[in-house]
Amino acid sequence: MSSNESIKTNKTTINTVYSGPSKRTTRLLSRVLSLDDFEIEAKKLLPRPIFGYISGAAENNVSRKRNRESFDDYEFLPRVLNDVSKRTTTTELFGKTYAAPFGIAPIGLSALYAYRGDIVLAKGAAQENVPMILSGTSLIRLEEVIKANPDAWFQAYLPGDDANIDALLQRVEKANFKTLVLTVDTCVPANRENNVRAGFSTPLKPSFRLLLDGILHPRWSIGTFLKTITFHGIPHFENSYAHRGAPILSPTVERDFSFRDHLNWSHVERIRKLWKGTFVIKGILNPEDARKAVEIGADGIIVSNHGGRQLDGAIAPLHALPAIVQACPNIPVMMDSGIRRGGDVIKALALGASFVFAGRPFAYASSVAGEAGVQHALGILKSEMMRNMALVGVNDVRDININEQVIPYSKRVR
Ligand SMILES: Cc1cc2nc3c(=O)[nH]c(=O)nc-3n(C[C@H](O)[C@H](O)[C@H](O)COP(=O)(O)O)c2cc1C
Repeated sequence: MSSNESIKTNKTTINTVYSGPSKRTTRLLSRVLSLDDFEIEAKKLLPRPIFGYISGAAENNVSRKRNRESFDDYEFLPRVLNDVSKRTTTTELFGKTYAAPFGIAPIGLSALYAYRGDIVLAKGAAQENVPMILSGTSLIRLEEVIKANPDAWFQAYLPGDDANIDALLQRVEKANFKTLVLTVDTCVPANRENNVRAGFSTPLKPSFRLLLDGILHPRWSIGTFLKTITFHGIPHFENSYAHRGAPILSPTVERDFSFRDHLNWSHVERIRKLWKGTFVIKGILNPEDARKAVEIGADGIIVSNHGGRQLDGAIAPLHALPAIVQACPNIPVMMDSGIRRGGDVIKALALGASFVFAGRPFAYASSVAGEAGVQHALGILKSEMMRNMALVGVNDVRDININEQVIPYSKRVR
């Protein structure tokens, strides 16, 4: 694997040729045996506020915890002697064949915790042939990211304001994105007290504590932050609107969240009319909303509680999944929140998901080892899936079913 990136400075263009991971990265990755191992490495590398931004959730972190626990509410009921030698994880979604039924969820501020983070995620996903959703709170212009991965999807946080909606959609369409994901669980900013306690804010406010954190984490400070500023200037929120947003570091600037709480179904109808490509709604947990999304013409739904980062106490998406699949049997119902193992993917598919996404593991992977880290993370998930498909006795992801290979724990103990 090798890929190129042009670094534009004020004076010249330097063409960097990526010729695979360094020895140090290879050594580091040899210690990473599961997605959770990336979190351990990222915690060592990243300043506390930035690690806290990725790992944290809302209020008491109850939903984040339950997202993980929900997978333990189901157990495998394996079949044996099935000749599983022809198993494959390839999956079709929206007319494209992907290497696996999982992809990279939109994760904001990627270029703050990994050098050129959004491009790293985009390229890692392209190399492994899985979808990557570019976050609306990303720090690299969407026009640049799609060049790195023409199949990337774009996720928008739209305000309930027609002029801003129209302008952003026009920009995204012009850039040639084919799939739009509208996130609908963020009508107001969440109560992330833990971010405040860890010293995180957007924009980051320069402070002695932040400086000290930077000094104590030189690999991030030099390899990500200073390198970014040197070659690309202070990152800004590039893709929240059609125009450039706030810088990521500022003592005074406030981000613009206005009209987000005005967004309603009539705006979604308008978006559906304007957006000619594939339209996915992310952040649905209630079957009634899922039905509305179908009525309006959504092509897919992502059942998600935002990784527990919005409404603390919101139902775990794995538990919400069956009712939503039942409510809209004719479109792909995807899910995210808590996926960490190939076995988790199998359980979500058994409950009716067509596809799943994960967020935090790829944020950590990109920060500790860039593109190689993202590929390593995707590789781990895929090899765990392949192994577990064999162990439960299926060859094809379409053959994974509830009550055949996966049963609710409560059923067994009753
Ligand atoms: C650091 C971070 C940033 C995120 N930024 C966004 C975002 O910009 N847009 C969005 O729709 N979801 C965002 N999410 C939520 C993810 O898309 C996804 O729903 C969540 O991470 C899934 O849970 P998991 O981290 O347990 O896999 C973010 C999550 C994390 C961890």
